[in-house]
Amino acid sequence: MNTNVQDQFKFTEVYQIERIHNPTPEEFQRGFLSVRKPVIITGGMSGWKALSSWTPDYLSTTVGNRQVDVNVSQSRMFMGDTKTGFASLRKTMKFSDFMSVLLEKNRSTSNSYYLQGQPMTTIFPELVQEIETPDYFDKKLLLVINLWLGAHGNISPLHYDASHNLLAQVSGRKRILLFDPKQTSFLYPFPAYSKIPHLSQVNIDEPDFEKFPKFSKAKCIECVLEPGEMLFIPVLWWHQVYSFDTLNIAVNFWWKEKLRQLLLTYSGMRLLAQIPAFFWQEFRNKVNSTSNPK
Ligand code: FUM
Ligand code: FE
Repeated sequence: MNTNVQDQFKFTEVYQIERIHNPTPEEFQRGFLSVRKPVIITGGMSGWKALSSWTPDYLSTTVGNRQVDVNVSQSRMFMGDTKTGFASLRKTMKFSDFMSVLLEKNRSTSNSYYLQGQPMTTIFPELVQEIETPDYFDKKLLLVINLWLGAHGNISPLHYDASHNLLAQVSGRKRILLFDPKQTSFLYPFPAYSKIPHLSQVNIDEPDFEKFPKFSKAKCIECVLEPGEMLFIPVLWWHQVYSFDTLNIAVNFWWKEKLRQLLLTYSGMRLLAQIPAFFWQEFRNKVNSTSNPK
């Protein structure tokens, strides 16, 4: 199977992402976090029990009866709805039924299913003990730990987030394309008044250059993330994520960027303006920390 983007993505320049083995937290912060540079960290998940224990049988035994919200797509692309911001089709189902659909050999449905970024501490607390929150950021800044579980072919479309992200691959591989926030004007985000201003309108696998001519100037970097590796996606960096292999499991850690830093950038401002709850919470945190200095 060809997972190399170079052959399939001829219309833009593509660079590879650097890998570093077991950096110290200081090395990571100095070389990557403070300058917002993506990197793959190898060796950082060697203590994770999840790497060996999260088999389909084990997961079905441990959390099989849990009701979970699963996104469903007819096209493999899990796009948000411009009016609601959520996937157009969402099913609540028993975790064990979801696993059976994912692993079914001759699927009775042509739909794709993706448990896409569900918070672990509330929905799968027993699984949190089998992972380790990395030392690469201040734990006080942690916003959420999400579980991603899907299968070959699923695609999270090009978008950016308001927080830093460590995407930790547990099972199967993911190919990730990243674009620097400076490229935002080539990527045609949905309008600021829509519910998905952080998603691109361009289908980057088959771009419509008449509608989106500046996309031809975009430059991206790519990687294939293997089990046991973690990818650092800095805040506001655009990313599109392709899942490979029969069972694909990842965990990601989102942590806060300073509000002041977000307000300094065009992408940050349009995102914050669209998420009043996030903005309000940040504002209250700021007021509280100023009125109660530690
Ligand atoms: O599909 C994905 O793994 C997406 C991850 C992300 O957006 O962080
Ligand atoms: Fe994301």
